[in-house]
Amino acid sequence: MKELKADSLIRHASLRQLQIMEAVARLGGYTRAARALHLTQPTVWMQIKKLSDTVDLPLFEQIGKQLHPTAAGRKILAAAQDILERLGQLDDDMTSLRGEVKGELRISVVSTAKYFIPHLLGAFVRRYPDVEPCLVVTNREKMLQRLRSNEDDLLIMGKIPESLEVEATAFLDNDLVVVAPPSHPLTKKQSIPLQSLLEENFLIREPGSGTRMAIDQLFADRGLQIKPYMNLGSSEAIKHAVMGGLGLSVLSLHSLRLELAGDHIAVLDVEGFPLKRRWYAAYPKGKQLPLVARTFLDFLLEDGRNILKNVPEEQTEAPPCQKKKKAR
Ligand code: PGA
Repeated sequence: MKELKADSLIRHASLRQLQIMEAVARLGGYTRAARALHLTQPTVWMQIKKLSDTVDLPLFEQIGKQLHPTAAGRKILAAAQDILERLGQLDDDMTSLRGEVKGELRISVVSTAKYFIPHLLGAFVRRYPDVEPCLVVTNREKMLQRLRSNEDDLLIMGKIPESLEVEATAFLDNDLVVVAPPSHPLTKKQSIPLQSLLEENFLIREPGSGTRMAIDQLFADRGLQIKPYMNLGSSEAIKHAVMGGLGLSVLSLHSLRLELAGDHIAVLDVEGFPLKRRWYAAYPKGKQLPLVARTFLDFLLEDGRNILKNVPEEQTEAPPCQKKKKAR
């Protein structure tokens, strides 16, 4: 095995200093880094000064109100990120070897998954109380950036990116349905042709949304092109616009639990719907999943559906539209 030499840094620098360096650079200041690391601001400042003295170069410069790493600071920052990442993995490996399901579980989800993932995460944490969940809800584009930079243990999405190498496991159905205000005349019709939607004011999610991609694809496959009446940035905004009588839309059934239960929104019986999709849990190919993430993935596969069935009023599958209407 090759001997690795770093005597000077090993003698004079510390892992804590690298952690502080990373936090100051990431958060852009001593005070914010101190708060994040539960240290005092003078301690943070002093540790950066010591590290700077060790390498005999300044590590940060102040430009306006913002602190920026110098060229030396950027080099140290890159090394600190590598070392901290590696240490994090080592910590995870040791926890796995001890067989303990505990520690941080970092998950990021596309916006529509926020309607069901918290229920699953809640049940998981009740089973494994030493797990510390960290959930980020974001849009698909940001999530793909997070996937590229390996910021999460698992990412929940409705469409696997073709441009990235990922391991992905489907764990739940994701049915998209056409929704309208309950007073809309189409609620009385059956087997509505898809083209009829072109005559309606159609509300649609923002470009980049997985739901939007699926709808665009469905219409393109039938040689149809929908002209959106309005683009809205979230399922919540669309639901309220539909309830406000602004138009029709297509949404995941997961996002409609409360509105369907309260009869505030109706599902239309449109040809080609429910549009059957799946939810996937994904991570970068080659990543070693920590035990906590592997256990959560197994939990999603084994218990996910049942847990969601038991959430009051939860809908995990699209019922035939007419049956649903009669039942209400
Ligand atoms: P969205 O993603 O919330 O960005 O529409 C959902 C999906 O991919 O199904």
